[in-house]
Amino acid sequence: MSKRFSGKVVVVTGAASGIGLCTARMFAGEGAITVLADLNLPDAEKAAAAIVGEGGEAIAFRCDIADETEVQRVAQDVVSRFGRIDVLVNNAGISITAVAERYDRFAQSVAVNLCGAFYWSRAAGLGSMIANGEGAIVNVASIAGLAAIPGDIGYVSAKHGIVGLTKALAVEWAKYGIRVNCVAPGITKSDMAQAAIDAEPVFMAERIGRVPLGRMGDAEDQARAILFLASDEAGYVSGVTLPVDGGQMALHSGMPQKR
Ligand SMILES: NC(=O)c1ccc[n+]([C@@H]2O[C@H](COP(=O)([O-])OP(=O)(O)OC[C@H]3O[C@@H](n4cnc5c(N)ncnc54)[C@H](O)[C@@H]3O)[C@@H](O)[C@H]2O)c1
Repeated sequence: MSKRFSGKVVVVTGAASGIGLCTARMFAGEGAITVLADLNLPDAEKAAAAIVGEGGEAIAFRCDIADETEVQRVAQDVVSRFGRIDVLVNNAGISITAVAERYDRFAQSVAVNLCGAFYWSRAAGLGSMIANGEGAIVNVASIAGLAAIPGDIGYVSAKHGIVGLTKALAVEWAKYGIRVNCVAPGITKSDMAQAAIDAEPVFMAERIGRVPLGRMGDAEDQARAILFLASDEAGYVSGVTLPVDGGQMALHSGMPQKR
């Protein structure tokens, strides 16, 4: 495998499980010094140890991305240990299932799913990327950032916000040589997806059955797209949101599938 990220310092938030863990492992496999930042420190430490066991470089930090002071502290710690941040993947996210009439944790959803990405972007920008005149930020939105899904209005609102944040920061920070892009995963195997399947198996089976490519995504599908957007191969790509969704966003929502 080519080593596109040899010696690069890569921060992945929410890297203790799912898409973030797979992404961190893939970056480490391509030579990166990989920083796993997660609210769940024990699992992040286990993940980092596993990556080190596979011959990669990795370190875990406890970080609540919704807490700007903690984000700044962790970012400073990363820069003082490794000298820089080359790539930031704003992956951590939460899903809160409730209908709009009883959605009581809207602020929490926006704090984690949207504010956290801004806090980390600003900390990485001010702490390293702007002074270095280069950097790549990849945000992880969702197809719920491109069209509404029922039952999590905070998530849908915040993920639409991430798509806007991507464009706004791409435009503002292009002058510093910083590219900002986004992936929008469709339903992808992870703890988050499994919780949704367990809660509503019939609804989710119908949803997965409508994926044009006929399957759920794997974390690897997302990680490969994230690494591409972070790499020099995407050197002229900035401000885009790439659906990685098996064709779901290409299918008109009013159309039943013809198999
Ligand atoms: N799995 C899917 O079907 C799917 C679809 C679309 C988008 N996404 C997005 O992909 C990203 C990763 O999701 P996943 O499916 O791997 O979920 P996951 O639940 O497996 O992983 C999320 C990780 O984020 C961490 N986290 C949660 N709150 C945090 C906080 N405040 N600070 C730091 N870390 C925190 C969790 O500890 C966990 O390790 C999320 O942004 C999610 O919205 C997932």
